[in-house]
Amino acid sequence: MQRLLLPIAFACAGLVQAAAPAKPAYQSASYAPGPRPVSAKQLEELGRQLFFDRSLSASGRMSCATCHSPSHAYGPPNGLAAQLGGKDGKQPGTRAAPSLRYLQSVPPFSEHFHDNDGNDSEDAGPTGGYTWDGRADSAHAQASLPLLAANEMANGTPAAVVDKLRRSAAAARFQRLFGSDIFSHPAQAFDKAALALEVFQQNPREFYPYDSKYDAYLRGQAKLTAKEARGLKAFNDPDKGNCASCHISQRSESGAFPAFTDYGHIAVGAPRNPELAANRDSHYFDLGLCGPARTDFKNRGDYCGLFRTPSLRNVASRKTFFHNGAFHDLRQVLRFYAERDTRPGKWYPKGKDGKVAKFDDLPARYQANVNMEAPFGGKAGGKAMFSERDIDDMLAFLKTLNDGYKPAVRGKS
Ligand code: HEC
Ligand code: HEC
Repeated sequence: MQRLLLPIAFACAGLVQAAAPAKPAYQSASYAPGPRPVSAKQLEELGRQLFFDRSLSASGRMSCATCHSPSHAYGPPNGLAAQLGGKDGKQPGTRAAPSLRYLQSVPPFSEHFHDNDGNDSEDAGPTGGYTWDGRADSAHAQASLPLLAANEMANGTPAAVVDKLRRSAAAARFQRLFGSDIFSHPAQAFDKAALALEVFQQNPREFYPYDSKYDAYLRGQAKLTAKEARGLKAFNDPDKGNCASCHISQRSESGAFPAFTDYGHIAVGAPRNPELAANRDSHYFDLGLCGPARTDFKNRGDYCGLFRTPSLRNVASRKTFFHNGAFHDLRQVLRFYAERDTRPGKWYPKGKDGKVAKFDDLPARYQANVNMEAPFGGKAGGKAMFSERDIDDMLAFLKTLNDGYKPAVRGKS
């Protein structure tokens, strides 16, 4: 992981010091007081301050942490399918807020799949990018989305954000780092704020601590219980969960710990969620890669319904699941995987014709995009792909992916 941090540190240094002379400014004869080169540490501290600063939202009540709560693995603190935001704090979102943990290795979006070690894989298909549809190429690019979005922090324009920054508690720090006239250059100031947020989110202790029980197990420092071990087996087993085919559970060839995702974009056919306000319009569909949030693939029918496979780290601490928050109970998600195709009537409502409207969150013409590989693809009326006992075991295993595992003190366990 250290390996990954370096390019970021360089990139930041490069961006911030672009105009600086080769020699440190204070050593040069023409030294004049002004902004010094900014260190990654200073950016991180500024980013932390901005992340929690509610004054940066139009309502004055919302910060990044409102939706990405540090005590919930930087995921949502509640079970809402989508969070409320906007000027009045009442504008509903259209998607579940993801955890911001373990995003440090998300590759930039690409239409071609790469494996965990960056090699081209035979498995072709869109991969990577930030957000559920991969439309932001970095946490840096991502930050501007919520700051501006009308149903989130609702600032509308970068200039409006900078105006708030100028009056925020972070203003003095901002000027110390980037020069006293930084706020007269709104585009630059906005960019620095996004950069600071990005650097904050690269902080390993908070964003990728690798301190779950499963990590301790991989390091040989903890034993899984019999139940957790059975759960891991069922999770990996191609004839049961086959979960690890997308949610990678093993260390990569280079030894990197697993992110529990291969970052691939896949349609799993999550049921339509009537809790989402946008879904009151029966013509509205969130089609992921092919739009409407993303616009570059609006003519790619074969991309409709695809969403980026999320990490399952800390998933047992969430109360809302899938891009549309269709589920609120992890056990239900596992049952959905076991029975989506064997008992569709349990998961999808009936259509006007009285038949089960399978894949009801996708217009009929895109339903063929839905993934049919194991654990999917069972025959309607057939046996579930794995049992309720497997589900119990897998739930126990998934809990080992929660961060903050405290090994039992020797002699006390
Ligand atoms: C109103 C709730 C809300 C607020 C406030 C918010 N976010 Fe988010 N965040 C979301 C949602 C919802 C998504 C998924 C968006 C999508 O897929 O289109 C998301 C996605 C992200 C992602 C991408 C995660 C991934 O898995 O690719 C990052 C990074 C992120 N937010 C950072 C931030 C930062 C930084 C701030 C503050 C500047 C912020 N968010 C404020 C709700 C919020
Ligand atoms: C073919 C790839 C694939 C397989 C196999 C797969 N998943 Fe997923 N998983 C996904 C994708 C893609 C999503 C997001 C779908 C969406 O939001 O529409 C997802 C979402 C989830 C979520 C919700 C996470 C969140 O933050 O909302 C859970 C939990 C989950 N999967 C568990 C499992 C388990 C357990 C298995 C095995 C029984 C499994 N998955 C098999 C691709 C896969």
